[in-house]
Amino acid sequence: MSFPRIRRSRLAVAALAALLPVAALTSVAAPAATAATVAAVPTPFSSIVPAPASATPASGATYTLASGAVISTDVPGIGDYLAAILRRSTGYALPVHTPGTTSGGISLLLSGAPASVGDQGYQLDVTASGVTVRAGKAAGLFSGVQTLLQLLPAAAQGATVGSGPWTVTGGKIVDYPRYAYRGAMLDVARHFFTVAQVKRYIDQIALYKVNQFHLHLADDQGWRIAINGWDRLTTYGGSTQVGGGSGGYYTQAQYSDLVAYAAQRYITVIPEIDMPGHTNAAEASYPAQLTCDGKAPPLYTGTDVGFSSLCTSKESTYQFLDAVISQLAALTPGPYLHIGGDEAKSTKPADYVAFVNRVQQIVASHGKTSIGWHEVANATLLPSTVPQFWDTTTSNAAVAAAAKNGSKILMSPANLTYLDMKYTSSTKLGQDWAGLTEVKKAYDWNPGAYLSGVGEQSVLGIEAPLWTETITSSADIEYMAFPRLAALAELGWSPQSTHNWTAFGKRLAAQGPLWKVLGIAYYKSPQVSWPSGS
Ligand code: ACM
Repeated sequence: MSFPRIRRSRLAVAALAALLPVAALTSVAAPAATAATVAAVPTPFSSIVPAPASATPASGATYTLASGAVISTDVPGIGDYLAAILRRSTGYALPVHTPGTTSGGISLLLSGAPASVGDQGYQLDVTASGVTVRAGKAAGLFSGVQTLLQLLPAAAQGATVGSGPWTVTGGKIVDYPRYAYRGAMLDVARHFFTVAQVKRYIDQIALYKVNQFHLHLADDQGWRIAINGWDRLTTYGGSTQVGGGSGGYYTQAQYSDLVAYAAQRYITVIPEIDMPGHTNAAEASYPAQLTCDGKAPPLYTGTDVGFSSLCTSKESTYQFLDAVISQLAALTPGPYLHIGGDEAKSTKPADYVAFVNRVQQIVASHGKTSIGWHEVANATLLPSTVPQFWDTTTSNAAVAAAAKNGSKILMSPANLTYLDMKYTSSTKLGQDWAGLTEVKKAYDWNPGAYLSGVGEQSVLGIEAPLWTETITSSADIEYMAFPRLAALAELGWSPQSTHNWTAFGKRLAAQGPLWKVLGIAYYKSPQVSWPSGS
């Protein structure tokens, strides 16, 4: 199957990539680890992904979870989350209590953390008698729990009872993120993914302290979220996908279920309705309201871009968008709505600017902040609006001007963060218009010093989008996301001072056994010395 998708500069970039020597894109694989190094020694702090801001092991001290251990917690939901995972794998009862009734075991406390950990960080203390996670806010406690889970043997996250021992390296970790926004995006428009498939991916991104989940809910090939009063968006506009399959959509109850599931993992959902381009499914469903000639285009199942546009001069377009945005705002507790804005090649530049200016106000009128692909920076942005940079260049005058005007920028350079780019020319899934992206390339850049005029203080964070023209199953998602998602999550969380490919490659290798236990169908990059058997 071929995917004749042609985005701006795509062919030129692909041609350039083809000229690069292969050695520029892949590095020499280190020798494989021996099996004996894998299980016996407790996981060292140096294996944690993302690397903590500071970690001090206590030599000789370890904690071993025992059958009588209890979990004491100020946040019952987090205690229950941890207990559910560890009960399955240890077979222990692991009762969850409020603090103060018992001692020892695992304590998850909203007191006593240093101020330096902020709203999202935590402190983890491991001694022979117990593990204590302290945080200022529940989100930080949840991140501390992810660190604790990584320090336990991989089998601790398994689905069946294992034999242990469930031993954790002793010491102290004080940890907090570099950026407030650490995101992953899933395109459920090109191919539809069920609620269960989306939850599986949410579980996986949570392992690496990703805290924002962007759902690309509408594109030319399908509209995936029910909007009351506009039923044909889903019953007709959602009825197909790339390649002509039957598509699908989420009811509002299903969307709310996803939002709640993500929230239990301290992940905020950001819904995207792409506009004014990428709108064929909506135009096909409501041509009288949304197209300038009132004629319905056929449903589209190919992979070209740039051919559709909402009619920016019709008042009915804005009435429609007000309905969509107000309903999504009501269903979405997080601060952001994503308004797309990319590749609007069938919208005149002046119309595009007027459209984005107006939609930005509609979003604000429903109490939300807009994120848009970086082309929105050509409009007159509110300083609160966030351009998401996705180009393959390292300078963009409009984005730099937006940063100067106070906007924070979300970094998703396509050649580095797009999880749908092939790893090598022989990767079966994915595309290559932004180049080939092995894991070292995805890791080896600095989001705070990448784009001219967009310094560290102007970066909101980093997001790894996964477009799904060629992606049709959870195994496909996992193959493209792992290991790169872990690399990008580390760029979003860890201080630049920890940045080191050799050390990161070792941390990544340590994730292999966990991904095996979790059934994550990851790409075994030859750039990483995966432990044997993982
Ligand atoms: C994009 O990849 N068109 C945002």
